[in-house]
Amino acid sequence: MPHNTPDFRSRAQLIERMDEPCSREQLRACLCDLAKTNRWTMAYRPLLHWLNTVTTVLPSLTEPLRILDVGSGYGDGLRRIEQWARSRGIAVELTGLDLNADATAIAAEASPAASRIQWVNANIFTYTPRKPIHLVISSLFTHHLVDSDIVRFLQWMEIHAQIGWFINDLSRAAIPYHFFRAFSKLAGLHPFVQHDGPVSIARSFVPEDWRTMCAAAGLGPQDAAIQSFKPARLCVARRKPTLGGEPL
Ligand SMILES: C[S@@+](CC[C@H](N)C(=O)[O-])C[C@H]1O[C@@H](n2cnc3c(N)ncnc32)[C@H](O)[C@@H]1O
Repeated sequence: MPHNTPDFRSRAQLIERMDEPCSREQLRACLCDLAKTNRWTMAYRPLLHWLNTVTTVLPSLTEPLRILDVGSGYGDGLRRIEQWARSRGIAVELTGLDLNADATAIAAEASPAASRIQWVNANIFTYTPRKPIHLVISSLFTHHLVDSDIVRFLQWMEIHAQIGWFINDLSRAAIPYHFFRAFSKLAGLHPFVQHDGPVSIARSFVPEDWRTMCAAAGLGPQDAAIQSFKPARLCVARRKPTLGGEPL
């Protein structure tokens, strides 16, 4: 559905096509092209950089590092982390959680037989992890939520993430909005991605949004680090003080 160009002064109230009912085939094709876009835009880089930093200062764990990816979609991000952990000899237990049962089925199908990732169909707000989680991560998830639910999500992560959490989302600005609109058409990406990409940028954040929501969640100004990554990513990282460190 076409929409009027947003003014970017506040988060746009637009609906993404992937959040509306669709067939599993449509969702698979959309998520597959979203994964392609993630690779082309080096979207895994901020999280891998943070994981490298966190794991170098981790006291040696006597158990695997348990990571929960919320809103895991196609699962490409978690599969990338599985490769990262294997290449560094880090023992991990990875869980991808998604509200959409088709998404978790698609992520499982797209994973190689040797993958040990668990795919869970659940709503994060009613999910109780079976084992304590060390790190909670998400990518392109938070802009799907209204501000009050993002504050609840921050509080959920504060309770459940023993070591820290990392949010990888988009930066709200006119240039990436117009660029992605043109690029996704030219590249012939799935119609949902052509629509939802610019809408996601318009629904996403500027640093002040994150400062306000982190404060509303009870975090102090130094507790989380807000950092931009090119192109068009805005990330929020939190390392718990139990690790004795600065937010990364
Ligand atoms: C845009 S996709 C992101 C997929 C993937 N993380 C990526 O970076 O490409 C957002 C995902 O969040 C999921 N989601 C939305 N609300 C959720 C909730 N309350 N609990 C768990 N997953 C949710 C959606 O079903 C969707 O698959």
